[in-house]
This record gives sequence, structure tokens and C-alpha cells, in this order.
Amino acid sequence: MCGIVGYIGPRVATPLLVDGLRRLEYRGYDSAGIAILNGHGVETRKAAGKISRLESLLSSSPIEGNIGIAHTRWATHGAPTECNAHPHVTEDGSIAVVHNGIIENASTLRTRLTERGHVFSSETDTEVLAHLIEELYEDTLEKAVIAALSHVEGTYGIAVMAASDPGKLVAARLGSPLLLGLGEDEYFIASDVSAILAHTRQVIYLDDGDVAVLTRDGYDIFDLDAATKSHVVSRVDWDLDQIEKGGYAHFMLKEIFEQPSTIGNTMRGRLLEEEGTAKLGGLNISDEELLDIDNIIITACGTSWHSALIGEHMLEELTRIPVEVEYASEFRYRNPIVTDRTLCIVISQSGETADTLAAMREAKRRGARTLGLVNVVGSTIARESDGGIYLHAGPEIGVASTKAFTSQVVALALLTLKMARLRDLSILRGREIVAGLQALPGQVQQMLDRADELEELAEEFKRSPNFLYLGRGFNFPAALEGALKLKEISYIHAEGYPAAEMKHGPIALIDAMMPVVFIAPHDSVFDKLVSNVQEVRARKGKTIVLTSRDEPALEGLVDYEFRMPETLEMLTPVLAAVPLQLLAYYIAVKRGSNVDQPRNLAKSVTVE
Ligand code: M6R
Repeated sequence: MCGIVGYIGPRVATPLLVDGLRRLEYRGYDSAGIAILNGHGVETRKAAGKISRLESLLSSSPIEGNIGIAHTRWATHGAPTECNAHPHVTEDGSIAVVHNGIIENASTLRTRLTERGHVFSSETDTEVLAHLIEELYEDTLEKAVIAALSHVEGTYGIAVMAASDPGKLVAARLGSPLLLGLGEDEYFIASDVSAILAHTRQVIYLDDGDVAVLTRDGYDIFDLDAATKSHVVSRVDWDLDQIEKGGYAHFMLKEIFEQPSTIGNTMRGRLLEEEGTAKLGGLNISDEELLDIDNIIITACGTSWHSALIGEHMLEELTRIPVEVEYASEFRYRNPIVTDRTLCIVISQSGETADTLAAMREAKRRGARTLGLVNVVGSTIARESDGGIYLHAGPEIGVASTKAFTSQVVALALLTLKMARLRDLSILRGREIVAGLQALPGQVQQMLDRADELEELAEEFKRSPNFLYLGRGFNFPAALEGALKLKEISYIHAEGYPAAEMKHGPIALIDAMMPVVFIAPHDSVFDKLVSNVQEVRARKGKTIVLTSRDEPALEGLVDYEFRMPETLEMLTPVLAAVPLQLLAYYIAVKRGSNVDQPRNLAKSVTVE
């Protein structure tokens, strides 16, 4: 989604801002722009398309100054054109605004402002903010911003500067993430810490309703009534090399290959071998309270929703607590049954997904305890949930989620283990699960060492227009995830189904042109799945089978096989995810797709 970077300090702002934009590219965007405040007032440069076009413009027509704001835009209101790119400025060019989020009453405000003589030059909701600030400007920029925001409905993360109040940046947040970076005599604004990590690790995460004023001498934070607020300074422990490709062709490939260590990081210090359980320090919920839970709701979007489905299976099987999984976008708009004995688990890599955040707030409002399974430290879901489990997978830059998914499943396994041991899971069974978890990093590595097998398979199928992914039990969600990975980065139409459902419709699609990927570890539903392989084979479909043993039952039925290590049934989706990710990756590369920034997609979906 859109990205914001702002700078005030002694250095020349343009290269810092452009570097910041580059580091936000992964979030997805379709135009970019920059505004610098200098002795000539506010100067802007904007370009549709990639940041490289903005860079060319800046090299032919440079702008210099020590204060600036910059933006990558992912079009919502209006096409991705230069005119609609941010920053948006007032007619006289004196006020510049960058904005993430959506101003819901933009058209009403635009009409009113037009009647008062303002002339608009873009189709965006953001431009309304620039004019509104100008309209209400009396004294200082921050007062005008606060006054303008009182008329606004919707969500925003904004950075603003004005020629009439030079030496100052104003930032404000409501529903769209924004943070301040604190350097040596210099300050930053960013929508994502990656943008400023090269310059500082000291950050302040703004809360909804915060307005920050930055000068070269320091910063102040106010609420929307202009009352001063204090804030905690956090230290970011991500390294710069974690947000760089480190020799890999793509972030996605790097992140797939990082999984032995990211899975290990999710478990680090959390497994109690002897007791056969897990220790989860951040839950913020006592064992007694966990025992009192009547029902669990897990809510999430996309890949995180797939891990939720695996979590449902684990939790119901081992704790016997009823679990419901719901798309966050649906949960927030219905009338769910939530009591004060409901545990609502919220899963999100970014911790900023708008629907997931809203669903969590709704569950809280209805009295549920909320637990966030989140990767990004300090993100809104992490801060607003009652407790949680950080994934510790490190920054995930590739738009297609990979290492976050496997860490989510592992975190859910840890939570299941803890809750089940509090109930009636035996210590022996608990120890088995601990051992299964501990073996995962090595097992994932074994498959990564055979990535070339999947690259060859990708060569075979790179031109297929459709794919079907089938799995049962724990691996039905793995099938959904495999299909999602393929479709989002290769643009091949792919569907995931519970294998037995195939007979109820999708079987009509099977012919010699249809590759069908079966996730078939040797588990309790293996025999059932073999029948589904036979059904595809009988219709000449191409069978690609991920399995874990030499199985006579599969003889003559398999066109392509990939062998996975054996693990506990509940952990099989973690292993299955890896070949599915690699297959999708290699197919996408061979088709020439932009793997890390697939078309139309954003890394973190911060609008509804
Ligand atoms: O950051 P989140 O986990 O909340 O994001 C949820 C989805 O937007 C995300 O998983 C999306 O589906 C990815 N593109 C999947 O690869």
C-alpha cells in the first residue's frame, strides 16, 4: 500500500527520501512523488510508475533542501497518474501533504471547498486535506492540521509542511500506521520502519489521534485537542541486511530460504522439553484464565487466514475447545457470538491489516480476550491486543508471504501445546510435539537443498493456465495456501480444495492439460487421498504429489513426486508449505513476473 517518508535535519533531504521510498517499494505502489521545502517555498516532483522514473526526473530537475516529504501511492481514488500522485499541494504551492488511508467524506468536503473558491487539480481524496488546511490556516501549521482533521471522516497517516511555517513537519495518524524516527539532530516520519532503518533505530509509534510536530530541535506530540502527550521511545532490533536481498535474486527466494532459521526463531526459548509444553511470555493471560476459555475465534486475512485454519484443526483436536475461523472482513460486519470467555486470536504478519485490526477491535468491544500473532514488532495489532506471540520471523519484504506463514503455524502449535497441556494432553504426547517442532528447521533445510527438483517441475508446468491444489485434514489449508502463492505471483488461475470436494464440481475441469498438486504426507487421511489421486489420473489429469514415503498405493498414479520428510500430522503443513512456495516462485520467475511486487497487490492492506 502507500508509503510515507519525511525528513527534517541538516542533511540534503532528497536522496534520503528517495532511498526511503525505495525501501518501501515492496509494499506495492503505482506512482511516487517528493516535495522539498527550501528558500523557494515548496517544490514538488512526481511521476507515474516506478521510483526510477521519479529519480530520472530528479536528476534532470533536481530539488535541494533539508526538509521534505515523499510518498509512494497505491491508487484508490483516481488513476495512477502523475497528477494524482502525492504530495498534493495547494494552488499557490505553499502547503504540501502526503497521505495514506481514505478520506471518506472527501467529495462533500471538495464541494464545500470548491464553493469557497478552491480549485482542485487531482481526483484524489488527499488533495482535499491540503485545501482544508489552507482554508483553516490562521496561526501555526499544527493548529491548521488539527482544525482540518476535525472535519475529516475516514483514516489517515499524513505528513504536512507549509512555506508559511518553515522549519517544521507535522504528522498525524488515525487508522493508518505512522512512526517518528529519532536521529542525531534529525528526525524522520515513516509509515514503515524499513524506510528509515538505515538512519536510526530509535522510533516512536504514533497512536490513533496523535499529531506530531517535528523541528530540527526536537519533537512534540499532541492529541486532537492539542493537549501534549508523552510517548515511549522503542528500539528496533531488525538489521539493515535483513531488509536487503543478500545475494538472492528476489526477497521471496531469500525469505523461503530463511525458514530454517525463522522457524527456529519462533520457537527459541519457548519450548520446555522436560515438561513437554511451551512457555509463552507475552500472552498476558494466566493459566487459570486460559482454562476458563469456552470458545476460540481466529480471525485474519489471506495467508494468515490459511494458518488460522490449521490452528483451528490443532486447537480443536488437542484442547477440545470449539474454534471458529473467520475472515476478518466478514467478522467485523456481522453479529458474532462473543462472550467474556471467548479468546479471539488475531493473526497478521504486518499487524496493520485494516480488516484484521477492525475485527480485533470489534471482538474486544464485545468482551473477548484478544491475542495477536504478529510479526512486526510495535505494529498496531501488537500494541492493541491484550497479549500475543511475536513470530520473530524478521522483516518479510516479498509481497507473497512465506516465512511468516510457517512461523504462524509454528506459533499456533506452541499455543496449542500450552493450552492442551493445561488440559488433558499427556506429558509424553507433549514431549513428542516438542520433538516434532525441534526437528522442523532441519527438515525444512533438507527440502531447500533439493530446490532444483522444484525448479525442473516449474519448467514443465510454467505454461499451464490453470492449477488445482488438493489436500485433506491439516493439509486442506496448505492446498489453499499453495494455490494462493501461485496465483498471486504467477497470475496463473489456481484453486485449492479439500480433496474429496473435487467430485462435487472441480472434477469437471480435469483433463490432460490440468496439473493437480496433491499434498499427501503419510497421515491419517492418506488412504482417502490416494482415491482422489486415482480419480484425477482416470481423467488424464497431471498428478504432482508431495508425499513422505515410498507408498505402493501411489504406484502408477504419480506423474511427478516430491518427497517431504516425515513429521507429526499437525506439523505437516509447515513442511508442505516449502515445496509449494518454491514451485510457485520458480514458475513465476520463468514466466517473467515481478515476483516481489506482483501487480495490483500490496504487502500490507491498510484500507478496507
Ligand atoms: O499482514 P497480514 O498477515 O495481515 O496480511 C494478510 C494478507 O493481506 C496477506 O497474507 C496476503 O494474502 C499475502 N499477499 C499473501 O501472500
